[in-house]
Amino acid sequence: MKNITKICCIGAGYVGGPTMAVIAKQCPHITVTVVDLNEARIAAWNDENTENIPVYEPGLSEVVAEARGRNLFFSTEVDKAIDEADMIFISVNTPTKTYGAGKGMGADLKYIELCARQIAKVAKDDKIIVEKSTLPVRTAETLRDILHNTGNGVKFQILSNPEFLAEGTAIEDLLMPDRVLIGGDTNEEGQEAIEALVSIYANWIPRERILTTNVWSSELSKLVANAMLAQRISSMNSISELCEKTEANVNEVARAIGSDSRIGPKFLKASVGFGGSCFQKDILNLVYISRSFGLQEVADYWEQVIIMNDHQKRRFAENIVKKLYNTVAGKKIAFLGWAFKKDTNDTRESAAIYVADLLLNEQADIKVFDPKVEEKQVHADLDYLATRPVEENHNAVHVFADPYEACKDTHAIAVLTEWDEFKDYDWQRIYDNMLKPAKIFDGRNLLDVKKLREIGFSVQAIGS
Ligand code: UDX
Ligand code: ADP
Repeated sequence: MKNITKICCIGAGYVGGPTMAVIAKQCPHITVTVVDLNEARIAAWNDENTENIPVYEPGLSEVVAEARGRNLFFSTEVDKAIDEADMIFISVNTPTKTYGAGKGMGADLKYIELCARQIAKVAKDDKIIVEKSTLPVRTAETLRDILHNTGNGVKFQILSNPEFLAEGTAIEDLLMPDRVLIGGDTNEEGQEAIEALVSIYANWIPRERILTTNVWSSELSKLVANAMLAQRISSMNSISELCEKTEANVNEVARAIGSDSRIGPKFLKASVGFGGSCFQKDILNLVYISRSFGLQEVADYWEQVIIMNDHQKRRFAENIVKKLYNTVAGKKIAFLGWAFKKDTNDTRESAAIYVADLLLNEQADIKVFDPKVEEKQVHADLDYLATRPVEENHNAVHVFADPYEACKDTHAIAVLTEWDEFKDYDWQRIYDNMLKPAKIFDGRNLLDVKKLREIGFSVQAIGS
């Protein structure tokens, strides 16, 4: 079996950065080099002050401080790192296509293909290639095709090692995962490659938690795991609407059904809608491949999870308009939270973006506060939707570094992210500085409704 001493990871994002930092921390005998084309991103990873690294994730800056310069390196020299490595992780982004066939559905694999071509060009000896990005099933075949037909005759083994870390708890998830999944070829070389990767994880993860499968099962399991989790949220969100029409309370329903050990308590929290770079993309991938195999009912079944999620975001925004007397034109609305969940600075597919977009269409002014998201990101997220001119977004959306300033003189507050600190704010002070009647729309069921009502707020939480 090949003894791995040098790892290269292509892509220094939310997946590649934390994953490699933890591998380097746990395996001081392995040199780990993370490369990226984005020079600013690499410079930030190399920032002397590890608080300034580009990914916010509790515990990450400490891990980077420990391993960086010892056996963890961040670099833009992609070719050199590929050449030197025994094992190459591919952690580049695979966004949903925004053009052509499969637009809005299939994953855009152009970055993956570029990586494969670059590896094929540079590699002078045998290498193990590990798919780490979320990918549609059978991407390994694409990789294999490119590597074997454009390379210098060297041998490549391709493994699938999907990422199960959740942002906000990435370090914990990487240090103590429920399971690690590794898929590879069933032939002897494939099994050897699997064993090489198993032995890396075995430095800190019990063997019985390292599952091995064939490549396709591994790729599909990633999509199914996320689809099943997202389905639970969409199911609860559908019930939240029913609760609002009846006297039921969605939190009470969640507790009652979650106490059944066959269901369990996790991922039953009704919300303004799930976000993040994985759920929507993975379900769309599942829908897309099902449809491409002619499995209409299967595709429709999973697509409904997305339809429900879009409905929930729209419903939340429409309710704000309705409760503000059917017009928000020229009214100021504060957004507490912009990230897709707490404890991350990632905003991809965040419900906040879509709720803001709908309210901007109604000509509202939006004042945003998020503890970890920067102003330019908020504007970039809205500009990306391309639903209105960039200047309009910049005129109507303002980002504040202080939550009290963001809420001042507004007609209403919408809670979009479940940051813990929101619970501890001086809500009396916020109330005193708002226009009356002061309204709160809690899209996360986060705040103490009773306390807020005593102050004088009118509060509407999801599902009650
Ligand atoms: C997810 C998977 O959990 C992880 O295993 C996979 O590797 C990547 O995708 P992530 O997107 O980081 O991780 O976050 P997750 O905690 O799953 O939350 C996704 C979205 O669902 C967030 O917007 C979150 O706020 C929302 N959510 C989650 C709910 O609305 N209700 C819940 O009960 C749980
Ligand atoms: P994820 O959440 O999947 O990690 P990110 O967008 O945070 O996604 O990170 C992906 C990273 O991959 C980006 O920093 C991007 O610059 C990088 N990347 C994409 N293609 C290449 C490539 N061919 N070579 C090196 N880096 C790449």
